[in-house]
Amino acid sequence: MNVDVILGLQWGDEGKGKIVDVLAPKYDIIARFQGGPNAGHTLEFNKNKVVLHSIPSGIFHEGKMNVIGNGVVLDPVIFAKELAMVETYNPRASANLLISKRVHLILPTHRVLDAAYENDMGEAKIGSTLKGISPAYTDKYSRNGLRVGDTLRSDFWEMFDALTLKHLRIIQMLGASVDNMLIDGMPYTEFVALWKKSIGLLKNMQLIDSEYYLNEAIRNGKSILAEGAQGTLLDIDFGSYPYVTSSNTICGGVCTGLGIAPRHVGNVIGIFKAYCTRVGSGPFPTELHDLTGEKLQKRGAEFGSTTGRARRCGWLDLVALRYAIQINGVNRLIMTKADVLDTFDTIQLCNSYQYNGREFSYPPYEICDQQMTPALMGVIGWQQDITEVSGKEELPLKLMHYITAIENFCGAQITMVSTGPDRKQIISLGNH
Ligand code: GDP
Ligand code: IMO
Ligand code: MG
Repeated sequence: MNVDVILGLQWGDEGKGKIVDVLAPKYDIIARFQGGPNAGHTLEFNKNKVVLHSIPSGIFHEGKMNVIGNGVVLDPVIFAKELAMVETYNPRASANLLISKRVHLILPTHRVLDAAYENDMGEAKIGSTLKGISPAYTDKYSRNGLRVGDTLRSDFWEMFDALTLKHLRIIQMLGASVDNMLIDGMPYTEFVALWKKSIGLLKNMQLIDSEYYLNEAIRNGKSILAEGAQGTLLDIDFGSYPYVTSSNTICGGVCTGLGIAPRHVGNVIGIFKAYCTRVGSGPFPTELHDLTGEKLQKRGAEFGSTTGRARRCGWLDLVALRYAIQINGVNRLIMTKADVLDTFDTIQLCNSYQYNGREFSYPPYEICDQQMTPALMGVIGWQQDITEVSGKEELPLKLMHYITAIENFCGAQITMVSTGPDRKQIISLGNH
C-alpha cells in the first residue's frame, strides 16, 4: 500500500500543514484531495512562516512532486498569488506542481454568492470563509461547474459568461448585487479582470489527468502522502451539518478526490490539537467562554490562517476525537500544540456528553441543534516548558500520562507530539 493519508480530526487548523511538511521527505508525491482556499496550512522553517491555501505542503522539499487533485476547488487569483509567494522560496516550484484538469474553478460570482447566502441566513449563518467554496461545489454537483481543463477550450470565455449570467440571476434573487460587494478588498469588476489574467497563468501550469498519473506512480512503487484540509467534524456528511464545509474531509475523500482505490490506502494519520478550537458557527460542547478559554487562545495564537478570525477554544473532546478516529480508520495519531498547555495546573478532558437525561459516548445526530453538556475529567498539568525538548525521554511524565489517557480512551496510539510551530519541534514517541 503506497498511499498514506494525513487528516484533521477536529474542526480544522490542527497543524496538518506543519505535519505534512515534517513527513514529506518520506514520500515521492504529496497530493491535496479536497477543499479549496478555505484551507490555511501554516509551515515554519528556517525562521520563515508561510501559509498555503491550495498548493500542497510538500512544495518546499526538493524533488517532491505536489499534486492538486480532482476533488479540490481552485480560485485562480488566490492560486497565482500563492505561487508567486512560494516562488520567492523555491523558484522552481511550478516544475514540481501538477494540477488535475478535473479540478473545479471558483468563479468571482461564487465568491459573491457565498456572501449573499450567508447574509440571507442572518443569525443562522455558517461563518463561511467566504472563499466561494460552497457555491463552487454546488455547481460541481449540479453539473454546472467549470473545470481547469475547460480553460484550454476555445469556447471557455463563452462558458464563463454563461455561468456568470446564471449566478447573477441568483444573486439578484437573493437581494444582493455585485456592485456593492468587495472581493478581497477589490470592486467586483476589478476582481474579474484579475481573475481573467490569472487564468492565463493557470493555463501555463502542468495540467494533467492526475488520477492516471497517481495510479501509474503507485504501479511504479512510488509513495504518496494525501493531505487533507479542514477536519472530520467539518465533513459534509459526518460533521455538525449544516455548520460544515462542502466536501468530504474524511479518509473516503482520498479515493474520490484523487481517483485512488481503497486498497492502496495504508496508514491513516490523524492530527489533533491537545485541546480544541473552532472557527465559524456551530456546536462545540467543550467550548470555554472564560479566562481559561482566553488563555488557550492567547498561548495558542488562535487566529484563523485564512481569515484572521479569532478561533473559539475549549478542552480536548475525546468523544468527538474517538468518533473521528473511527470514521477515518486512523491507525496513527499525532498530537500538536502540546506546548500550549505547558503552564496549566489542571487540564480537562471530555469523556461523554449528557443530553436530555441520556449519556452519549459519540456525537449523536442531535448535536447539530441541541446543547450537549460535556462530562469532564481533570488531569494534572506538567507545568514545564517543552518547546526545547529534543527527545521522548525528556518529555514530562505528566504529559506522558495525558498521552496515555487519550490513547486508552480512543484506542489508537500517539506516535508523535508537536511542541512548537517549527518543522524541528517534533518528538517521535518511537512506538510505530
Ligand atoms: P492546519 O490548517 O491544520 O494546517 O493548521 P493551521 O496552520 O491553520 O493552524 C495551526 C497553527 O498552529 C499554525 O499557526 C501553526 O504554525 C501552529 N502550530 C502547529 N503546530 C504547533 C505546535 O505544536 N505548537 C504551537 N505552539 N503551534 C503550532
Ligand atoms: P484548514 O484546512 C478551520 C470552516 C469555516 C466555517 C465552515 C464552512 O486550514 O484546517 P467554508 O468556507 O468551507 O464554506 O466554511 O468551515 N472552515 C475551516 N475552519 N480550518 C479550515 O481549513 C477551514 N475551512 C473551512 O470557518 O465554519
Ligand atoms: Mg488552517
